[in-house]
Amino acid sequence: MRRSIVIGCGAYLPEKAVSNEELSRRIDTSDDWIRQRTGIRQRHIAADGEFTSHLALHAARDALARAGCTAGDIDVLVLATATPDNTFPATAARVQAELGMKRGAAFDVQAVCSGFVYATSIADNMLRLGQATTALVIGAETFSRILDWSDRSTCVLFGDGAGAVVLRAAGGGGTNADRGILSTHLFSDGSGYEMLYVDGGPSTTGKSGHLRMHGREVFRHAVTRMAEAVEISLQSNNLSADDLDWVVPHQANIRIMDSMAKRLGLSREQIVVTVDRQANTSAATIPLALAAADADGRLKQGQLVSLTAMGGGFTWGSVLLRW
Ligand code: ACO
Repeated sequence: MRRSIVIGCGAYLPEKAVSNEELSRRIDTSDDWIRQRTGIRQRHIAADGEFTSHLALHAARDALARAGCTAGDIDVLVLATATPDNTFPATAARVQAELGMKRGAAFDVQAVCSGFVYATSIADNMLRLGQATTALVIGAETFSRILDWSDRSTCVLFGDGAGAVVLRAAGGGGTNADRGILSTHLFSDGSGYEMLYVDGGPSTTGKSGHLRMHGREVFRHAVTRMAEAVEISLQSNNLSADDLDWVVPHQANIRIMDSMAKRLGLSREQIVVTVDRQANTSAATIPLALAAADADGRLKQGQLVSLTAMGGGFTWGSVLLRW
Protein backbone atom coordinates (compact mmCIF):
# COMPACT_ATOMS: atom_id res chain seq x y z
CA MET A 1 0.00 0.00 0.00
CA ARG A 2 1.29 3.49 -0.86
CA ARG A 3 1.94 5.65 2.20
CA SER A 4 3.27 9.18 2.66
CA ILE A 5 6.47 9.35 4.68
CA VAL A 6 7.90 12.55 6.17
CA ILE A 7 11.42 12.71 4.74
CA GLY A 8 12.34 16.20 5.93
CA CYS A 9 11.14 19.01 8.21
CA GLY A 10 12.02 22.70 8.06
CA ALA A 11 11.39 25.78 10.14
CA TYR A 12 11.76 29.52 10.01
CA LEU A 13 11.09 32.22 12.57
CA PRO A 14 11.56 35.94 11.90
CA GLU A 15 14.64 37.38 13.55
CA LYS A 16 12.82 39.71 15.93
CA ALA A 17 11.62 38.06 19.15
CA VAL A 18 9.30 40.11 21.36
CA SER A 19 9.11 39.15 25.03
CA ASN A 20 6.07 39.57 27.26
CA GLU A 21 8.03 42.21 29.18
CA GLU A 22 8.50 44.19 26.00
CA LEU A 23 4.78 43.93 25.16
CA SER A 24 3.82 45.08 28.65
CA ARG A 25 5.64 48.36 28.01
CA ARG A 26 3.23 49.08 25.12
CA ILE A 27 0.03 47.31 26.21
CA ASP A 28 -1.80 47.04 29.54
CA THR A 29 -0.65 43.49 30.29
CA SER A 30 2.05 41.65 32.25
CA ASP A 31 4.47 38.76 31.81
CA ASP A 32 2.73 37.04 34.74
CA TRP A 33 -0.76 37.24 33.20
CA ILE A 34 0.37 36.00 29.79
CA ARG A 35 2.51 33.15 31.15
CA GLN A 36 -0.08 31.94 33.64
CA ARG A 37 -3.01 32.06 31.20
CA THR A 38 -1.19 30.80 28.10
CA GLY A 39 2.38 29.56 28.78
CA ILE A 40 3.70 32.07 26.23
CA ARG A 41 7.00 33.84 27.03
CA GLN A 42 7.78 35.38 23.65
CA ARG A 43 6.73 35.51 19.99
CA HIS A 44 8.55 36.31 16.74
CA ILE A 45 7.33 39.19 14.59
CA ALA A 46 8.05 39.58 10.88
CA ALA A 47 10.03 42.65 9.83
CA ASP A 48 8.52 45.35 7.63
CA GLY A 49 8.59 44.02 4.09
CA GLU A 50 8.87 40.41 5.28
CA PHE A 51 5.82 38.55 3.97
CA THR A 52 4.22 35.15 4.55
CA SER A 53 5.82 33.92 1.29
CA HIS A 54 9.29 34.89 2.56
CA LEU A 55 8.79 32.93 5.79
CA ALA A 56 7.42 29.99 3.81
CA LEU A 57 10.34 30.05 1.42
CA HIS A 58 12.92 29.84 4.24
CA ALA A 59 11.06 26.92 5.87
CA ALA A 60 10.66 25.17 2.51
CA ARG A 61 14.37 25.46 1.69
CA ASP A 62 15.24 24.08 5.13
CA ALA A 63 12.86 21.11 4.70
CA LEU A 64 14.13 20.37 1.16
CA ALA A 65 17.76 20.44 2.34
CA ARG A 66 17.02 18.09 5.24
CA ALA A 67 15.09 15.77 2.92
CA GLY A 68 17.97 15.75 0.45
CA CYS A 69 15.63 17.02 -2.30
CA THR A 70 15.61 19.87 -4.76
CA ALA A 71 12.63 21.92 -5.89
CA GLY A 72 12.67 19.88 -9.10
CA ASP A 73 11.65 16.77 -7.14
CA ILE A 74 8.40 18.34 -5.91
CA ASP A 75 5.17 17.38 -7.71
CA VAL A 76 2.82 19.41 -5.54
CA LEU A 77 3.22 22.32 -3.12
CA VAL A 78 0.37 22.85 -0.65
CA LEU A 79 0.61 25.95 1.53
CA ALA A 80 -1.68 26.47 4.53
CA THR A 81 -2.21 30.09 5.50
CA ALA A 82 -4.87 32.52 6.66
CA THR A 83 -2.53 35.46 6.06
CA PRO A 84 -1.61 35.24 2.36
CA ASP A 85 0.62 37.88 0.77
CA ASN A 86 -2.22 39.01 -1.50
CA THR A 87 -5.84 38.02 -2.03
CA PHE A 88 -4.59 36.24 -5.15
CA PRO A 89 -2.65 34.58 -6.63
CA ALA A 90 -2.00 31.94 -3.99
CA THR A 91 1.02 32.48 -1.79
CA ALA A 92 2.01 28.95 -2.81
CA ALA A 93 2.49 30.18 -6.38
CA ARG A 94 4.89 32.84 -5.19
CA VAL A 95 6.86 30.29 -3.18
CA GLN A 96 6.86 27.93 -6.17
CA ALA A 97 8.42 30.65 -8.34
CA GLU A 98 11.01 31.60 -5.71
CA LEU A 99 12.01 27.96 -5.26
CA GLY A 100 12.52 27.67 -9.02
CA MET A 101 9.93 24.90 -9.22
CA LYS A 102 8.95 24.79 -12.90
CA ARG A 103 6.39 22.01 -12.91
CA GLY A 104 3.68 20.44 -10.78
CA ALA A 105 0.91 22.25 -8.92
CA ALA A 106 0.95 24.84 -6.15
CA PHE A 107 -2.06 26.07 -4.19
CA ASP A 108 -3.13 27.48 -0.81
CA VAL A 109 -5.41 25.89 1.76
CA GLN A 110 -7.39 28.02 4.21
CA ALA A 111 -8.48 26.32 7.43
CA VAL A 112 -6.81 28.80 9.81
CA CYS A 113 -5.12 26.97 12.72
CA SER A 114 -6.15 23.56 11.29
CA GLY A 115 -4.62 24.52 7.94
CA PHE A 116 -1.55 22.31 8.20
CA VAL A 117 -3.65 19.24 9.07
CA TYR A 118 -5.94 19.99 6.12
CA ALA A 119 -2.99 20.57 3.76
CA THR A 120 -1.29 17.36 4.90
CA SER A 121 -4.49 15.39 4.38
CA ILE A 122 -4.85 16.71 0.81
CA ALA A 123 -1.20 16.01 -0.03
CA ASP A 124 -1.43 12.53 1.53
CA ASN A 125 -4.46 11.69 -0.59
CA MET A 126 -2.68 12.85 -3.74
CA LEU A 127 0.34 10.72 -2.88
CA ARG A 128 -1.76 7.65 -2.08
CA LEU A 129 -3.66 7.97 -5.35
CA GLY A 130 -0.46 8.24 -7.34
CA GLN A 131 -1.25 11.77 -8.50
CA ALA A 132 2.08 12.88 -7.00
CA THR A 133 5.18 11.20 -5.58
CA THR A 134 6.72 14.02 -3.57
CA ALA A 135 4.84 16.84 -1.86
CA LEU A 136 5.99 19.97 -0.06
CA VAL A 137 3.51 20.95 2.66
CA ILE A 138 3.98 24.33 4.31
CA GLY A 139 2.23 26.19 7.12
CA ALA A 140 3.14 29.90 7.09
CA GLU A 141 1.62 32.95 8.77
CA THR A 142 2.11 36.61 9.57
CA PHE A 143 -0.68 36.95 12.14
CA SER A 144 0.97 40.10 13.51
CA ARG A 145 -0.56 41.87 10.47
CA ILE A 146 -4.16 41.00 11.39
CA LEU A 147 -3.96 41.64 15.13
CA ASP A 148 -5.68 44.55 16.79
CA TRP A 149 -2.72 45.74 18.87
CA SER A 150 -5.10 47.69 21.12
CA ASP A 151 -6.96 44.49 22.11
CA ARG A 152 -4.88 42.94 24.88
CA SER A 153 -7.09 39.83 25.02
CA THR A 154 -5.92 38.70 21.56
CA CYS A 155 -2.72 40.49 20.54
CA VAL A 156 -0.54 38.79 23.17
CA LEU A 157 -1.43 35.29 21.92
CA PHE A 158 -0.01 35.17 18.40
CA GLY A 159 3.28 35.26 16.50
CA ASP A 160 4.70 34.86 12.99
CA GLY A 161 6.55 31.87 11.55
CA ALA A 162 6.61 29.03 9.06
CA GLY A 163 7.22 25.30 9.08
CA ALA A 164 7.37 22.77 6.25
CA VAL A 165 7.57 19.04 5.60
CA VAL A 166 8.48 17.02 2.53
CA LEU A 167 6.28 13.95 2.03
CA ARG A 168 7.35 11.09 -0.22
CA ALA A 169 5.13 8.23 -1.34
CA ALA A 170 6.60 4.84 -0.45
CA GLY A 171 5.26 1.54 -1.65
CA GLY A 172 5.83 -0.29 1.65
CA GLY A 173 8.24 -3.10 2.28
CA GLY A 174 11.88 -2.90 3.38
CA THR A 175 12.83 -0.45 6.12
CA ASN A 176 9.79 1.73 5.33
CA ALA A 177 7.23 -1.06 5.80
CA ASP A 178 5.45 0.41 8.83
CA ARG A 179 6.26 4.06 8.32
CA GLY A 180 4.13 6.91 7.06
CA ILE A 181 0.72 8.49 7.46
CA LEU A 182 -1.83 5.90 8.63
CA SER A 183 -4.88 8.13 8.29
CA THR A 184 -6.11 11.71 8.33
CA HIS A 185 -9.45 12.99 9.66
CA LEU A 186 -10.94 16.41 8.89
CA PHE A 187 -13.96 18.12 10.43
CA SER A 188 -15.67 21.48 10.41
CA ASP A 189 -18.70 23.16 11.93
CA GLY A 190 -19.46 26.50 10.29
CA SER A 191 -21.86 27.49 13.05
CA GLY A 192 -18.76 28.41 15.10
CA TYR A 193 -17.98 31.19 12.59
CA GLU A 194 -18.45 34.11 15.00
CA MET A 195 -16.38 32.62 17.80
CA LEU A 196 -13.13 33.28 15.96
CA TYR A 197 -12.95 35.38 12.82
CA VAL A 198 -11.38 38.37 11.09
CA ASP A 199 -13.69 41.36 10.71
CA GLY A 200 -12.73 42.15 7.14
CA GLY A 201 -11.91 40.69 3.74
CA PRO A 202 -12.03 41.46 0.00
CA SER A 203 -15.76 40.73 -0.32
CA THR A 204 -16.96 42.47 2.87
CA THR A 205 -14.99 45.55 3.87
CA GLY A 206 -12.31 45.57 1.21
CA LYS A 207 -9.72 45.72 4.00
CA SER A 208 -7.96 42.76 5.57
CA GLY A 209 -9.47 43.41 9.02
CA HIS A 210 -8.55 42.26 12.53
CA LEU A 211 -8.83 39.03 14.47
CA ARG A 212 -11.78 38.77 16.90
CA MET A 213 -12.31 35.95 19.35
CA HIS A 214 -14.48 34.66 22.18
CA GLY A 215 -11.56 33.19 24.10
CA ARG A 216 -13.43 31.00 26.58
CA GLU A 217 -15.65 29.34 23.94
CA VAL A 218 -12.65 28.72 21.72
CA PHE A 219 -10.77 27.22 24.66
CA ARG A 220 -13.56 24.77 25.43
CA HIS A 221 -13.97 23.69 21.79
CA ALA A 222 -10.22 23.34 21.27
CA VAL A 223 -9.77 20.88 24.14
CA THR A 224 -12.77 18.73 23.20
CA ARG A 225 -12.27 18.73 19.43
CA MET A 226 -8.53 18.06 19.42
CA ALA A 227 -8.89 15.17 21.90
CA GLU A 228 -11.81 13.75 19.87
CA ALA A 229 -9.85 13.96 16.63
CA VAL A 230 -6.96 12.03 18.17
CA GLU A 231 -9.32 9.38 19.57
CA ILE A 232 -11.11 8.92 16.23
CA SER A 233 -7.81 8.43 14.40
CA LEU A 234 -6.65 5.86 16.96
CA GLN A 235 -9.94 3.94 16.83
CA SER A 236 -9.96 3.85 13.05
CA ASN A 237 -6.53 2.17 13.13
CA ASN A 238 -7.41 -0.23 15.98
CA LEU A 239 -4.97 1.56 18.25
CA SER A 240 -5.36 3.26 21.63
CA ALA A 241 -3.78 6.21 23.42
CA ASP A 242 -1.42 3.71 25.12
CA ASP A 243 0.16 3.11 21.71
CA LEU A 244 1.00 6.79 21.18
CA ASP A 245 4.55 8.02 21.60
CA TRP A 246 3.94 11.70 20.83
CA VAL A 247 1.18 14.19 20.24
CA VAL A 248 2.14 17.30 18.30
CA PRO A 249 -0.87 19.56 18.84
CA HIS A 250 -1.63 22.98 17.46
CA GLN A 251 0.11 25.38 19.83
CA ALA A 252 -2.46 27.91 21.03
CA ASN A 253 -2.13 27.72 24.77
CA ILE A 254 -0.37 25.40 27.23
CA ARG A 255 -3.58 24.97 29.26
CA ILE A 256 -5.42 23.72 26.16
CA MET A 257 -2.64 21.18 25.55
CA ASP A 258 -2.57 20.08 29.21
CA SER A 259 -6.35 19.58 29.32
CA MET A 260 -6.25 17.66 26.03
CA ALA A 261 -3.43 15.41 27.32
CA LYS A 262 -5.41 14.74 30.51
CA ARG A 263 -8.49 13.76 28.50
CA LEU A 264 -6.41 11.33 26.47
CA GLY A 265 -4.64 9.94 29.57
CA LEU A 266 -1.23 11.08 28.29
CA SER A 267 1.62 12.62 30.26
CA ARG A 268 2.82 16.21 29.66
CA GLU A 269 6.16 14.71 28.49
CA GLN A 270 4.43 13.13 25.47
CA ILE A 271 3.20 16.49 24.20
CA VAL A 272 5.58 18.48 22.00
CA VAL A 273 5.43 22.11 23.17
CA THR A 274 6.82 25.20 21.46
CA VAL A 275 4.14 27.74 22.41
CA ASP A 276 6.37 29.20 25.13
CA ARG A 277 8.96 30.43 22.58
CA GLN A 278 6.79 30.98 19.50
CA ALA A 279 3.22 31.72 20.70
CA ASN A 280 0.38 30.77 18.36
CA THR A 281 1.55 30.89 14.72
CA SER A 282 -1.74 29.38 13.47
CA ALA A 283 -1.13 26.99 10.52
CA ALA A 284 2.62 27.07 11.21
CA THR A 285 2.58 25.70 14.77
CA ILE A 286 2.48 21.98 13.95
CA PRO A 287 5.25 21.91 11.32
CA LEU A 288 7.35 24.19 13.55
CA ALA A 289 6.86 21.83 16.51
CA LEU A 290 7.58 18.79 14.33
CA ALA A 291 10.77 20.40 13.08
CA ALA A 292 11.86 21.15 16.66
CA ALA A 293 11.19 17.60 17.89
CA ASP A 294 12.87 16.11 14.82
CA ALA A 295 15.94 18.34 15.14
CA ASP A 296 16.51 17.51 18.81
CA GLY A 297 16.15 13.76 18.17
CA ARG A 298 12.92 13.22 20.15
CA LEU A 299 11.11 11.69 17.18
CA LYS A 300 12.48 8.24 16.41
CA GLN A 301 11.77 6.04 13.42
CA GLY A 302 8.78 3.77 14.00
CA GLN A 303 7.23 5.88 16.78
CA LEU A 304 3.50 6.61 16.67
CA VAL A 305 2.82 10.35 16.36
CA SER A 306 -0.49 12.19 16.35
CA LEU A 307 -0.90 15.68 14.93
CA THR A 308 -4.08 17.49 15.91
CA ALA A 309 -5.44 21.00 15.48
CA MET A 310 -8.51 23.14 15.94
CA GLY A 311 -9.12 26.58 14.52
CA GLY A 312 -11.49 29.19 13.17
CA GLY A 313 -14.52 27.97 11.26
CA PHE A 314 -14.61 25.94 13.42
CA THR A 315 -12.28 23.47 11.75
CA TRP A 316 -10.40 20.60 13.38
CA GLY A 317 -8.72 17.33 12.52
CA SER A 318 -5.87 14.90 13.03
CA VAL A 319 -3.09 13.05 11.25
CA LEU A 320 -1.83 9.73 12.64
CA LEU A 321 1.58 8.61 11.44
CA ARG A 322 4.49 6.33 12.12
CA TRP A 323 7.66 8.39 12.06
N1 ACO B 1 -3.29 41.05 30.12
C1 ACO B 1 -3.87 41.29 31.29
N2 ACO B 1 -5.18 41.10 31.51
C2 ACO B 1 -5.92 40.65 30.49
C3 ACO B 1 -5.37 40.37 29.23
C4 ACO B 1 -4.00 40.60 29.07
N3 ACO B 1 -3.35 40.36 27.91
N4 ACO B 1 -6.34 39.93 28.43
C5 ACO B 1 -7.48 39.91 29.13
N5 ACO B 1 -7.23 40.35 30.39
C6 ACO B 1 -8.15 40.49 31.51
C7 ACO B 1 -9.58 40.67 31.06
O1 ACO B 1 -9.84 42.03 30.78
C8 ACO B 1 -10.34 40.19 32.27
O2 ACO B 1 -10.33 41.22 33.23
P1 ACO B 1 -11.63 41.47 34.16
O3 ACO B 1 -11.79 40.19 34.95
O4 ACO B 1 -11.20 42.63 34.97
O5 ACO B 1 -12.74 41.72 33.20
C9 ACO B 1 -9.47 39.07 32.81
O6 ACO B 1 -8.16 39.26 32.24
C10 ACO B 1 -9.96 37.70 32.45
O7 ACO B 1 -10.28 37.68 31.06
P2 ACO B 1 -10.80 36.40 30.36
O8 ACO B 1 -10.92 36.65 28.90
O9 ACO B 1 -11.97 35.87 31.09
O10 ACO B 1 -9.56 35.41 30.64
P3 ACO B 1 -9.44 33.88 30.44
O11 ACO B 1 -9.05 33.26 31.70
O12 ACO B 1 -10.59 33.29 29.67
O13 ACO B 1 -8.17 33.80 29.47
C11 ACO B 1 -7.56 33.52 27.17
C12 ACO B 1 -8.20 34.43 28.20
C13 ACO B 1 -6.10 33.32 27.54
C14 ACO B 1 -7.66 34.19 25.82
C15 ACO B 1 -8.28 32.16 27.17
O14 ACO B 1 -9.67 32.32 27.07
C16 ACO B 1 -7.80 31.29 26.07
O15 ACO B 1 -6.67 30.84 26.09
N6 ACO B 1 -8.66 30.98 25.10
C17 ACO B 1 -8.25 30.18 23.96
C18 ACO B 1 -8.06 31.13 22.88
C19 ACO B 1 -6.93 30.85 21.99
O16 ACO B 1 -5.87 30.37 22.37
N7 ACO B 1 -7.16 31.18 20.76
C20 ACO B 1 -6.18 31.06 19.76
C21 ACO B 1 -6.83 30.95 18.45
S1 ACO B 1 -7.82 29.52 18.38
C22 ACO B 1 -6.83 28.30 18.36
O17 ACO B 1 -5.70 28.45 18.00
C23 ACO B 1 -7.33 27.00 18.81
